[in-house]
Amino acid sequence: QTLAARTLSAVAEYIKDGKAKRIVVLTGAGISTAAGIPDFRSPGTGLYANLARLNLPHAEAVFDISYFRQNPEPFYVLARELYPGKFHPTVSHAFITLLARRGLLSHLFTQNIDCLERRAGVPADKIVEAHGSFATQRCIDCRREYPDGPMREHVERGQVPRCEDETCGGLVKPDIVFFGEQLPSDFERSLHHLSMADLVLVIGTSLTVFPFAKLPDLTLDGKPRVLFNLERVGTMGTQADDVLELGDCDSGIRKLADELGWREELEELWTG
Ligand code: OAD
Repeated sequence: QTLAARTLSAVAEYIKDGKAKRIVVLTGAGISTAAGIPDFRSPGTGLYANLARLNLPHAEAVFDISYFRQNPEPFYVLARELYPGKFHPTVSHAFITLLARRGLLSHLFTQNIDCLERRAGVPADKIVEAHGSFATQRCIDCRREYPDGPMREHVERGQVPRCEDETCGGLVKPDIVFFGEQLPSDFERSLHHLSMADLVLVIGTSLTVFPFAKLPDLTLDGKPRVLFNLERVGTMGTQADDVLELGDCDSGIRKLADELGWREELEELWTG
């Protein structure tokens, strides 16, 4: 066993001893629920439990590329609610920025499309947006990019944008990875950072969607993995150096920041 104990204070000691120089962070929708963005799978509050009004064949169809081709409206109903701009990063996002400032962040792999990592100040070259984001958009047929201004207007009005090339006229979709689509090429290219990591933090994800869900298992034996989540997920907890911090992630992260003596700096960074 690498850690003195399977506790956050042992993780803090490991960091303070200079043993964690390349930290990889893996995030999902749970890191943003405190910002007011629902996650997908939490019973009752998750998006998938609240899509009945959209009359989908099944909840995940709203992010399914073949369904979108036939029926893009439900996605645009959702896009209007989720569109970046009105949400603020959480204290857990700020902690990732703090890791970067201290030169300890190797990479952040996120499944989220809310762009809150960038907003929190995590350097762009450290972020791998595994499921894309709302930052850009294009035609699903000819792949021509579509401009930001008209995109925002369409989303705000709940209208489906169409390709600006009139001979094409295809549907425009944000560069979010839908079910049935490939992940961005930098996802595959960045995987080796996991086997080089000396600490992996997993925050707010159910680890149910592959290939992202396999990322924690690329950690080398003897390198600690810490889960900040409401529930135990994936293989987290099965390794000798796994630490489970079950509860809301902002509380867990604050606890770790206290153990590190970084709490004040964290709160300052977060409140700006
Ligand atoms: P899920 O909704 O599947 O899982 C969110 C996880 O975060 C659950 O385990 C919750 O218990 C936990 N959680 C919620 N709020 C929390 C909080 N405040 N503190 C700690 N934990 C909390 O979301 P993802 O794992 O991100 O794909 O889902 C993966 C992918 O499935 C998404 O990227 C999306 C979806 O279909 C696409 O859109 C392509």
